[in-house]
Amino acid sequence: MEVLILEDETAVAIQGAMLVVELIEKKSNAVLGLATGRTPIQLYSNLINYYKQGRISFEHIQTFNLDEYYGLSENHPSNFRQFMQRHLFDHIDIETTNTHLPNSNSNNPRLVGPAYEALIKASGGIDLQILGIGRNGHIGFNEPSSSLASRTRIKTLTNSTLQDNQLGSGKEELPDMAITMGIGTIMDARRVLLLAVGKNKATPVRNAVEGPISSMSPASALQAHQYVTVILDEDAASDLKLRDYYRWVHLKSEDIKAKYGNFYEIDLLER
Ligand code: PGA
Repeated sequence: MEVLILEDETAVAIQGAMLVVELIEKKSNAVLGLATGRTPIQLYSNLINYYKQGRISFEHIQTFNLDEYYGLSENHPSNFRQFMQRHLFDHIDIETTNTHLPNSNSNNPRLVGPAYEALIKASGGIDLQILGIGRNGHIGFNEPSSSLASRTRIKTLTNSTLQDNQLGSGKEELPDMAITMGIGTIMDARRVLLLAVGKNKATPVRNAVEGPISSMSPASALQAHQYVTVILDEDAASDLKLRDYYRWVHLKSEDIKAKYGNFYEIDLLER
């Protein structure tokens, strides 16, 4: 895992957006995996700025969101489609038909997962998956005990996730089930970008980066992915044992990239 520790939330969002911009500059029809939640909001507003400055276009980009609440109507203000419209899609030149979220209103939720997986496959697969991390270590809505090989499916949310989600949405009652990409789906992305900021993410980040790989800490599965970049602010990195080593590696890898380019990026474009 590549672990970047930056001074604050603003720096995390700038660095995260730069990785997306560099990908779009090299591959104008890239497939992006997107996340909701508080963490990526600043990254999205940076992307909007780069679009408005004319640096990138989303005309040929496709997106797949990690998850969607089960059973909320399409126009409900708390559903993730509305979140994405507000924080990104309404402000860029993306085609709505190229933006995908799991269907939360299907008569048979068990059919939604396989259909979503087929759509991702038909798009050529996700080039870059953006992730936040839950207080309980979840990625997407893959709660602790999720199979590390899971695919897109309906999932019952834990109490801690329900409480966190409720905080963001005021008084209204939110569904206790969601349709989420599985950990196996996320692991198929060519590159994964995990962002975390704030002290309340220090423990899940430590478990994800330095703990044993375990379904009790779903993000720890990423240790087995070939190309993961974890971008943290100082608070989210504060429990990491090898903090100083990661900073040292970051400096060294900047030197290597300047001299020889980024091996993985070359690989990414050729796949
Ligand atoms: P947050 O949520 O970005 O609102 O902290 C992250 C998550 O639950 O995955």
